[in-house]
Amino acid sequence: MNEREPARQRAAALREQINYHNHRYYVLDSPEISDAEYDALLQELRALEARFPDLLTPDSPTQRVGAPPAEAFGTVEHRLPMLSLSNVFDNQELAAWHKRVGGLLEGAPFDLVCEHKFDGLAVSLVYQDGVFSVGATRGDGYRGEDVTANLRTVRTIPLQVKGGPRRFEVRGEVILSKAQFERINQERARQGMPLYANPRNSAAGSLRQLDSRITAQRGLEVYIYALGWVEGGDAPAPATHWESLQLLKSLGFRVNPHLALATTLDEVEAYYQEWLSRRVALPYQADGIVVKVNSRAQQERLGVVGREPRWATAYKFPSDQATTRLLEIGINVGRTGTLNPYAILEPVRVGGVTVSQATLHNEDYIVERDIRIGDWVIVQRAGEVIPQIIGPVLGRRTGGERRFQMPAACPSCGHPALRPPGEAAWSCLNSACPAQQFRKLEHFASKGAMDIKGVGGATLEAMVRAGLVKDPADVYFVTREQLLALERLADKSAQNVLDAIARSKERPLANVIAALGILNVGEETARDLAERFRSLDALSAAGEEELQTVPNIGPKVAASIAAFFRDEGNRAVLEKLRQAGVRLAAEPAAAPATGPFQPWKGYQFVLTGTLASMARGEAEQRIRRLGGAVGSSVTRKTTHLVAGAAPGSKLERARELGATVWDEAAFLAALRQHGQA
Ligand code: IVH
Repeated sequence: MNEREPARQRAAALREQINYHNHRYYVLDSPEISDAEYDALLQELRALEARFPDLLTPDSPTQRVGAPPAEAFGTVEHRLPMLSLSNVFDNQELAAWHKRVGGLLEGAPFDLVCEHKFDGLAVSLVYQDGVFSVGATRGDGYRGEDVTANLRTVRTIPLQVKGGPRRFEVRGEVILSKAQFERINQERARQGMPLYANPRNSAAGSLRQLDSRITAQRGLEVYIYALGWVEGGDAPAPATHWESLQLLKSLGFRVNPHLALATTLDEVEAYYQEWLSRRVALPYQADGIVVKVNSRAQQERLGVVGREPRWATAYKFPSDQATTRLLEIGINVGRTGTLNPYAILEPVRVGGVTVSQATLHNEDYIVERDIRIGDWVIVQRAGEVIPQIIGPVLGRRTGGERRFQMPAACPSCGHPALRPPGEAAWSCLNSACPAQQFRKLEHFASKGAMDIKGVGGATLEAMVRAGLVKDPADVYFVTREQLLALERLADKSAQNVLDAIARSKERPLANVIAALGILNVGEETARDLAERFRSLDALSAAGEEELQTVPNIGPKVAASIAAFFRDEGNRAVLEKLRQAGVRLAAEPAAAPATGPFQPWKGYQFVLTGTLASMARGEAEQRIRRLGGAVGSSVTRKTTHLVAGAAPGSKLERARELGATVWDEAAFLAALRQHGQA
């Protein structure tokens, strides 16, 4: 019997299945089969195509791996020009745009569609008889580069669609997620290659690779934001932009899920404000919102001036980047003795605040980016995080810049500085280093630790200087008389300090563990440890193996916990804490407080980072009251991640697994909806 016919049928069936699962996985974020099962399907198809090469089609999902290098890109002429957008920067400019549109439409009512403005590259994708056939960059708006082979490797672009018009074009933005961007830069750093400045540059670099096998490894994604031209097909083209987006979604394209229809300017402003605060939690970079007149007929009426349509505008977020001069590099001694370089900058406004210092992380960071003293540098401040130096503006170098060298000695105590093999940071290993001691105490008294109000910077420094406090436990033995003897402390404030110290003895175990300042143990790990061991005695007795059974704790963290509790000096501090009456065990577990109304039943939450508006325990309680469960590590069962400021690795993990990610604003909004805020 002819073997080819059954092979052809099987190949077609496999393609159908693989395309279906691709769509579930990449576009809908909700896979039905395991990665292994998916790989098996792909493997079977590859084998068939290898045996019957004439069965191989350009739209086969096996072709996503990329083709051998092209000489250069061909040119594609756009049938409709690819336009750009006008910008507005505040609500007054937006109102002026809105008014102009209203005027041109002679008072006729009009709806608006609000979308995210992706910071990537525009592409045009042409489908012929349901098959992705040509993909091009924007180019000069009229002619772009033919990057079809590269775009075929982008998994969120369907290679095949069913039921659409005979020929049509869609437009969208090719982007790199923040997570992929980080991954690529880490890889480049390892290979000693120059780093990409932002996801947009990195996406552009990836899309314009001559070897599409490289593009395939980059993890590019696409969001489709418009239907272009349409040819053939029975259904009339949709009458509104909103409907065309729904149509595109039903054809299997990935359309941004956070769209909104608005009829008033206030609604547009609310959408803008919402995403201004939530954008840090988005997996991709958005640099504003795009507002588009919904009706196609009205769009046509409004027309285009130059290259900008009158019917749409971009309402930009305030830029979170700026350029300024790097005046000097200073060194901060960290609580564990690390010498952390930081940038002293000519003050510059970024994202609404004036920045005069930014972190430079460590020696490698400075070397990899070739940051020199005197450089013009790009400063970024995203969300709540500490300002960062992205890199130098090489075009503005004068030759007068100076390379930086880490100091040979600790700037606080003069002890020789050392960079242990395998570590990124230089350290001062003198445990009696005053800067280190001060940082340790500061950490101990801080909000996420013992929360001793009034014992911050200045008071603490005075206590250290007066020799009252050498290790954190000493604060519990400071007397009223000693405090009064400190220059700046009046009777009343001394009493406040004493009260705060006394109150801190009742801090939850997780905070006490965090306060100890164990290397590699932050607030989150401390919480996991408290939950598992329920007392400091149990924790200090745990071996490394047992420690590693706690979620998120690996060999490195386990080793530093064990080392901490082996240390004589640390043991002495713990003993002093015990004598001072600090509670070193968890409170008995309270019965779960659930309410009668359980809209979050079945939801599995995980919290990460710091919430500004409430303590972690409070947030957990409210979730439980609504019927939700709270776990400590992100697993496939996790449905929601609440990410506060400075979120940990859980955020990336949650995104990988497709959990819903809420930032604080979204979490509060959800609580409010159920009367829990
Ligand atoms: S609509 C009207 N929608 O912004 C024609 N563009 O400055 C403009 N962009 O080249 C396209 N997100 O690369 C549109 N939701 C969105 C967008 C978006 C990002 C980009 C696009 C365009 C540029 C215009």
